[in-house]
Amino acid sequence: MVFKKNYANVYDSLYQNKDYEKECDFIEEILKKQGKTVKTILDLGCGTGGHVLILAKRGYKVTGIDQSEDMLKAARNKARSAGLKIDFHKSSIQDLRLNQRFDVVISMFAVMGYQTDNEDLALACKTAKKHLRQGGNFIFDAWNGLAVMADSPTQVVKDLRNGNERIVRITRPNMDMISHSVDVNFNVLVLKRDKLISETEETHKMRFFYPQEIKYFLQVAGFSDIKFCPFLKPALPLSERDWNMSVIAK
Ligand SMILES: C[S@@+](CC[C@H](N)C(=O)[O-])C[C@H]1O[C@@H](n2cnc3c(N)ncnc32)[C@H](O)[C@@H]1O
Repeated sequence: MVFKKNYANVYDSLYQNKDYEKECDFIEEILKKQGKTVKTILDLGCGTGGHVLILAKRGYKVTGIDQSEDMLKAARNKARSAGLKIDFHKSSIQDLRLNQRFDVVISMFAVMGYQTDNEDLALACKTAKKHLRQGGNFIFDAWNGLAVMADSPTQVVKDLRNGNERIVRITRPNMDMISHSVDVNFNVLVLKRDKLISETEETHKMRFFYPQEIKYFLQVAGFSDIKFCPFLKPALPLSERDWNMSVIAK
């Protein structure tokens, strides 16, 4: 299990500069092209609610699911403080059965990359299709294998502040080319006035995908119109140099 309490507690601080508003603009840009008015959105792997909170504020009826109780707890607290009514459910994507269809399904920030074996990935695509109304889009992002192989991930240190706390995260990637995955080891230290107050370590197994591979999984799940672009750039074609790709499937 990953995204446990200590990691979930620092998640929002670690990604304080991630532009969730811009990502929601991108989602809305696709929704405008979808035709019929979009009202309902399902977020698979909603985490601490980065997208669902913004989309709820923008007037959509949103549902977020995640398998990490600690990430969901943060999302629920933020929704409560903001006075937003959002449906949250604890479930794996693979086991999800809401018996409801949504206008759009999203799964943002490499959630699909956590589905590292073929069976889990196939089931995740099936879940998305099962919860979409006819003609609805499944929007997600993933690591593009072509770029990852050419420019492999390296060790990175993030050092940031959250109030009077200092958070240091050391990321050590270990690539397994044959399984198309990277074991990303995160070591997170939280310090207050240079005194260590918590330390946590998690290794996240993340998969990268080749566009034709992901297209195949989506087609088997029943999607027929599948588009790729560089992350958040729908007007541009995907190239072998784009590390992060957005995928839009109908
Ligand atoms: C990198 S976080 C992204 C969270 C959020 N979408 C965001 O943009 O901040 C990945 C999230 O996906 C969830 N996740 C990964 N695999 C999952 C699965 N099979 N079922 C449910 N949740 C999953 C994790 O628990 C975690 O909260």
